[in-house]
Parts: sequence; C-alpha cells; structure tokens
Amino acid sequence: MAKYRIAWLPGDGIGNDVMEAAKIVLDVLKLDADYIHGDVGWEFWKKEATALPDRTVKLLKETDCCLFGAITSKPKEEAEKELVPEFQGKGCIYLSPILRIRQEFNLHTNFRPCIAYKGNPLNYRDDIDLAIFRENTEGLYSGIEFYPLPEQVRDVLLENNPRMKKFQSTPLDEIALSCRFITKKASQSIVRQGFEYAKKHDKKSVTLIEKPNVLRETSGLIVREARKIAKEYPGIELWETNIDAMGMWLVKNPERYNVLVATNLFGDIISDLAAQLVGGLGFTASGNIGDNYALFEPTHGSAPKYAGLYKANPTAMLSAVALMLDYLKEDKLACNLKDAIARVIEEGKVRTYDLGGTNSTLDVAKEVARKVISNA
Ligand code: NAI
Ligand code: MG
Repeated sequence: MAKYRIAWLPGDGIGNDVMEAAKIVLDVLKLDADYIHGDVGWEFWKKEATALPDRTVKLLKETDCCLFGAITSKPKEEAEKELVPEFQGKGCIYLSPILRIRQEFNLHTNFRPCIAYKGNPLNYRDDIDLAIFRENTEGLYSGIEFYPLPEQVRDVLLENNPRMKKFQSTPLDEIALSCRFITKKASQSIVRQGFEYAKKHDKKSVTLIEKPNVLRETSGLIVREARKIAKEYPGIELWETNIDAMGMWLVKNPERYNVLVATNLFGDIISDLAAQLVGGLGFTASGNIGDNYALFEPTHGSAPKYAGLYKANPTAMLSAVALMLDYLKEDKLACNLKDAIARVIEEGKVRTYDLGGTNSTLDVAKEVARKVISNA
C-alpha cells in the first residue's frame, strides 16, 4: 500500500490541463502515493444538481489530502438554466465545491505564498516575498445570509441596536443581509499561524489587515487577540493596517511586508492583489488547511477559452503540489520541486504564452521534471 492516498480533483477547463502537468512532476518525484480521481465541477452540477457529489465527499474523507484543479461557476439564473430538465424549477441552489469543502472539513486556514521568482518578466518587483494567512471559514463568507430579511431577524436587531432604525421602514424584500461572524478561536488560530511562520522563517513583522475603526466589534475582536498573541513573540513586530490602506501600500512598497494575516473577505482580496504582484494567476497557489485535512489548488479558475488547449501556465498548479509536499512533511521533495520550478523560470527557455513563450503546459511540466531529476 502506498504511504499516502491523495484525492485527485481536476474539475473543469484548464483544471484538467494543469493537473496532467502535476502528475508528470509527481511521477518523477516518486512520491509514494495513490491518486484517486473524484468527480467535481460544472458537468456534475448540470447532470446531478450538485457540483460536489456525495461520493466525492466520501472520497475526501478516505484520503490524506486533496489536489484540486479548478471549477467553473456561474450566477444563479444561468446555473439553473443549464440543469438537466428533471432538476429545473426544483429550487436547486449551486454551492461552490471549494466553499463547501472548506466548511465541511473545517479547512480554517488559507495559506498563500506570493514569491517573486527570479527572472519572471511578470514580476511587479523582484524583491517581493509575501506569505498570506487568511481565515477561511468565517467572516462575511460564513454563508449566513438572508433575502428577503425575515421579520424576526429585523425585530431582534431593532431591539438590540439603535442603528437598525435606519432600516425599520424599508420593505423586507428590499433588504439583504450577510452576517460577518468572527470568533476568538479562529482569530487566535490564524494570527498564531502567522507568527509561527514568521518565527520559523526569520521574518521581522506580521501585518494584520483589518478595519477596526469602522468594524468596531468584529475587527476589534481580532485586533485585541492579535495584540495578546504578539506579546509571546518578542522580536517580531505586529503591524496593524486597514484593508483599504493596505491595497495602496502593497502597490507602493510590497517589499516591506512579510507575513500578512486577515479575515476571510479581506484576505481573499489581498491574496489576489498580492498574486498579481508576482505574475498573477499562472503563478500562485493556496493551501486550504485544517486540523485533519487539507486541499491544495492553483489560484486561477477554469479559463474555459483555453480548456484542453494546453496553453495554461502550470506553475501555479506545481506550486500547489509543493505546498502539498510541505503539508505532508516531505521536505526533501518539496525543496527539490520548488528549486526546479524556480530554475525553469529563471532560465526562461520553456515558457507558456503568458510569459511571451510558445511552449505548452506539458512542455513546462516536463522541463520542471527534468530539473527535479537532476536535483535528486
Ligand atoms: P480564470 O482564472 O479562469 O481565468 C482568467 C484569465 O486568466 C484566463 O482567461 C487566462 O487569460 C488567464 N489565466 C488563468 N489561469 C491561467 C494560467 N494557468 N496560465 C495562463 N493564463 C491563465 O478566471 P475567470 O475567467 O474569471 O473564470 C473562469 C471560470 O473559473 C468561472 O466560471 C469562474 O467562476 C471560475 N473560477 C474558479 C476558481 C476556482 O476553481 N478556484 C477561481 C476563479 C474562478
Ligand atoms: Mg479569490
């Protein structure tokens, strides 16, 4: 029996192209693993009214972690229209498989390193090295939303908060509400992981990205917890920055920052901004990590116009593989792969279209594989 069982979820579009690239590299790394295919994505939404069938959830439960390609998703009305006739008009609601997996497996931490690889012509600057820790299950993405606003919910809010008077006479079907839940436990966990990473990698600061001057209660809570935790890490400064200002600072002086910590929505926004600073969608990956399970994915989506054309840059997917190897504590393999990726980018001989090249997804994977072998 292999040492690991890994759920293999290519999903839609270029998710398949880049996962094929991942397999080429995993094979030469000789990771002792079985890869077990799982159904996920738009095809299954159309046929089965769920993009994440129960059999796939079961598969995830029987594996050590998951590699995920990408999925297609569409707005509510369009999604409903594409269902097979038997599910039309039944009130089927599309739920993002990624969001569901994050919640059902409590993958509370989203980790996204954004490193400017030497020689990447798409770098905004060459000295960027950011590690983003985003809380992955709460905040505005808790999924606790209302439309129309139930009368009892309004009444309770009216009783408990004078500012609710502003909405007292608005018709209930003219108000939507999304709740921002922030708990102490999740706040402590995400902040602590940021500090632990800073300690391990000898970084001098951890930046908490919030908005406590406006979101007094929710941001206030995580800021208070962060200040307490920071005291346990002498030598690492806690920098507190507002989300809006942070957008500006990351464009102005991204090289000054090391470790960034944020709640779900702010972390989502900052992660994409940071990804673009180091070459964008083709380069960055995330780990969705919980206490007992984890899922690794490139940042990009299914890019339908390139599906099956093998044009996509597999670097993001290969970086997801490297994150997975870190998670599995296969440190030697992780180092080898990271080095191989960096060397291929620096040499610049094999490049996909986004880097001005004409090579295919698999050409890049094979070049990385050659470097992996020469490193071993
Ligand atoms: P996208 O990330 O799929 O692609 C946007 C554009 O970025 C592409 O057209 C392409 O020009 C470029 N691009 C993306 N990945 C690339 C790569 N590896 N190499 C080179 N160029 C690359 O985002 P888009 O077009 O907004 O969404 C397409 C579908 O993907 C939608 O249905 C969307 O909902 C879904 N999506 C899924 C995500 C996921 O699975 N985690 C994340 C983002 C979007
Ligand atoms: Mg995002």
